[in-house]
Amino acid sequence: HDQTLADMTRLHRRIARLQTLPSVPGEDLRGIARALKDSMQELRQLIDAVKPTVLQLFGFEEGVEDLLRRSVRDSGLSIETRLQDSTDGMGDRLPESVKVAVFRIIQEAVNNAIRHAMPDSIVIHISHTGGLLQLTIDDDGLGLDVGNGFNSGGIQNMQVRAQLMAAQLFIERGPAGRGTRVRVCLPLADLAIVDEAAAVCAPAFLTETPCKSC
Ligand SMILES: Nc1ncnc2c1ncn2[C@@H]1O[C@H](COP(=O)(O)OP(=O)(O)OP(=O)(O)O)[C@@H](O)[C@H]1O
Ligand SMILES: [Mg+2]
Repeated sequence: HDQTLADMTRLHRRIARLQTLPSVPGEDLRGIARALKDSMQELRQLIDAVKPTVLQLFGFEEGVEDLLRRSVRDSGLSIETRLQDSTDGMGDRLPESVKVAVFRIIQEAVNNAIRHAMPDSIVIHISHTGGLLQLTIDDDGLGLDVGNGFNSGGIQNMQVRAQLMAAQLFIERGPAGRGTRVRVCLPLADLAIVDEAAAVCAPAFLTETPCKSC
């Protein structure tokens, strides 16, 4: 968030400086237009994160489909996307705060795949077994450095969101050893007793180990 504001402040300064010139070179304007477009995209994502309207209006599945469609469209890349939900609409039966948290985790994982991985495809699976909701977001792109710790940014936000709903979040190699998998194990029985104040900020980690309850 701070980054977007800093980018826009810099842009404002650049424009203010150009105002003092008798004429403005086209290249300067092109640079500003590009930077503005980036900031607009960041802001759009920020607004989506605060209030995922489609989620509220049309439900979880349509919200996620819409997110996939728009994220890929805005990236200008050619990425195949798929949502496989075998839970018979469990997303919509989650408490509102949990539903939004799951949506935001998906949003960050999809954005990361698009921004960093250059994937051919992004696949989201949602399944429900033995009192657990299991969510995976897979890309078949460049992959992450194994052993890396992430103490800030989107990955840590995902981790914190997972902790707030007493879920576990893992960042792993993608299926077939390619790309990246973000995996969330959400115990459904505990939802009513989640104590948000007890959630602790911990660094995300990479693991190949399944969570105990999965
Ligand atoms: N799916 C992915 N494939 C490849 N690399 C990734 C993927 N997701 C994250 N990364 C790497 O991990 C780093 C940390 O990701 P993180 O989401 O925390 O930060 P960010 O995306 O760089 O910035 P932001 O704070 O805006 O999310 C990224 O900069 C990128 O190098
Ligand atoms: Mg990110």
